[in-house]
Amino acid sequence: MLSLENINLELEVEERRVPILHDINLQLEAGKMYALTGPNGSGKSSVARVAMGIYKQTAGKVIYNGEEISDWSISERARRGIGYAFQHPPRFKGMLVKDMLELAMKYADSANCQVLRDIGLCPDDYIERALDNSLSGGEIKRIEIATLLAQDPKVRIFDEPEAGIDLWSFEQLIDVIGSSHREDATTVIISHQEKILNMVDEIVLIKDGTVSMRGDRKTIWPQIKESAECSCRNDCRLEGEIYADCPR
Ligand SMILES: Nc1ncnc2c1ncn2[C@@H]1O[C@H](COP(=O)(O)OP(=O)(O)OP(=O)(O)O)[C@@H](O)[C@H]1O
Ligand SMILES: [Mg+2]
Repeated sequence: MLSLENINLELEVEERRVPILHDINLQLEAGKMYALTGPNGSGKSSVARVAMGIYKQTAGKVIYNGEEISDWSISERARRGIGYAFQHPPRFKGMLVKDMLELAMKYADSANCQVLRDIGLCPDDYIERALDNSLSGGEIKRIEIATLLAQDPKVRIFDEPEAGIDLWSFEQLIDVIGSSHREDATTVIISHQEKILNMVDEIVLIKDGTVSMRGDRKTIWPQIKESAECSCRNDCRLEGEIYADCPR
């Protein structure tokens, strides 16, 4: 369905080229659910952004159903069936929740405000709300997820869908993502949550900007534990004094 082949990504940060991803190879098949996990800053969201065309890779190819799509714009990718729910959803001044859902529905045949209900929001309370700072972090996150469910693309990438979602709604969130997965679609969930890692077919561990390992939970779990250890290679010094040291 979707493949990333030998992807390298460098970004311009304060006039310096900073390497973010290197040699990412990832084949994602139809009908499967995947979790991307790994330490903070390891490159998970950047992988999603390259797949979505938000970041343009420095080298390598993005292939969708056998066709190279590296030059496709974000909207072309969305129109052709790749969807991404942001880790930190943007807020759009002057846009209403219903506008966002209507826009998403353009890409899908059928969707309605049932998706808001599915994600635990009462449609009547939210459909006319503005997508601005008046929405809480959890509300905007749910609306973002509802929008991807309404869009119902062939490749669905959820970036930390659990972030900001309360404990009571977490099970419902897992259920709705799991039950909306279809045999002709690919679901990718970027997550640190054990329950999410348990529900997928395959876990991909991203470390230091590359795919470090992929497999089932039993294979990946020891690596995840190792990743939790301090990976800092420098002591923290201020004016010559060591303020924090790191096990090396
Ligand atoms: N636009 C950008 N400008 C500068 N640095 C960036 C940019 N986007 C990503 N990075 C850097 O690239 C690295 C990977 O970031 P990314 O957001 O992909 O990590 P992540 O694995 O999703 O982390 P988290 O678990 O915290 O969400 C980080 O060091 C981040 O600071
Ligand atoms: Mg991220």
